[in-house]
Amino acid sequence: MEYRTLGRTGLKVSELCLGTMTFGWSADEKTSFDIMSAAFDGGINFFDTADIYSRWVEGNSGGESETIIGKWLAGRPRHQVVIASKVRGRMWDGPNGEGLSRVHIMKAVEDSLKRLNTDYIDLYQVHWPDWETPLDETLRALDDLVRQGKVRYIGASNYPAWLLCKSLWISDVNGLVRFECLQPHYNLLHRAEFERELQPLCRDQEIGVIPYSPLARGFLTGKYRRDHTPPPNSRAKQDTQLRQMMTERNFAVVDKLIELGNARGKTPAQMALGWLLTNPVITSPIIGARTVEQVHESLGAVGLRLSDEEMAILDEMTSWEE
Ligand SMILES: NC(=O)c1ccc[n+]([C@@H]2O[C@H](COP(=O)([O-])OP(=O)(O)OC[C@H]3O[C@@H](n4cnc5c(N)ncnc54)[C@H](OP(=O)(O)O)[C@@H]3O)[C@@H](O)[C@H]2O)c1
Repeated sequence: MEYRTLGRTGLKVSELCLGTMTFGWSADEKTSFDIMSAAFDGGINFFDTADIYSRWVEGNSGGESETIIGKWLAGRPRHQVVIASKVRGRMWDGPNGEGLSRVHIMKAVEDSLKRLNTDYIDLYQVHWPDWETPLDETLRALDDLVRQGKVRYIGASNYPAWLLCKSLWISDVNGLVRFECLQPHYNLLHRAEFERELQPLCRDQEIGVIPYSPLARGFLTGKYRRDHTPPPNSRAKQDTQLRQMMTERNFAVVDKLIELGNARGKTPAQMALGWLLTNPVITSPIIGARTVEQVHESLGAVGLRLSDEEMAILDEMTSWEE
């Protein structure tokens, strides 16, 4: 396992990050513990969650994923893991139950710390923009959290390039901590959103990049086939966006991953992760898993770097440039 420096910070994170959105959703508590242990034993020290995981499940109130992580952490050396969480989504009723105001952030972080069973969060990320709160209010609140020792570094997710750039400028001119990390939606089938403007910005400003949905929600594993019903328990049943990916062009990309992978003894999922791991702008793709076997398969991508020829073939098939 390679440990990479997160952007311009001194923090070292594993080349794969484990996402925990499935915890309390498609993975029950026992399976979630096993998934975390399998990842940790495989050398992963970096775990991503959010306060809202998994609030969308009937009967859940949010925070289930953080609570499971907190229980798993109990009795383990806290300093050996890097915990990333997020704030922004609705967590309680009322006008301040969501957003990136100082009021929302200050309560949300305390709630996350309690659930995570820790007194600091390594990377605290804004989950998506709040167009109703001034950026400098959000950044000042986050700066206070770092100074109070409740948060080590801050990051942004789902920010367009202009907003990230404006945030960096506000931090710079006011002497505030800056977003050191971006969490974008980025994979072989979803490239333009990141590559058009965010990628050059992150390269230039030395911002760590931790892409989510690196397997396109499971599509790039090759488990969905033309004219076949999705396998039982797979996410496709409840995920409209995943079903919309089932186009001839995308199936052809999976065919190519299978072909290139066969020549190397790698699975399509590992090749899709390898494509991200070969890009020097990427710090750690955030893998998702419902089972321990899925974690093991993703761990098989550790150290995988694609050749120039493999990159060129995949780039050409999936390019968004005219
Ligand atoms: N910032 C944001 O807005 C945002 C949004 C989404 C995700 N995230 C973060 O990114 C993480 C990963 O996102 P994601 O779950 O969409 O990532 P992903 O890695 O693209 O998809 C993971 C899903 O693919 C399937 N899968 C994984 N490995 C497999 C294998 N070897 N064989 C067959 N199926 C396999 C599983 O779904 P099934 O088996 O259930 O089909 C698994 O839950 C999340 O946990 C979260 O931390 C952040």
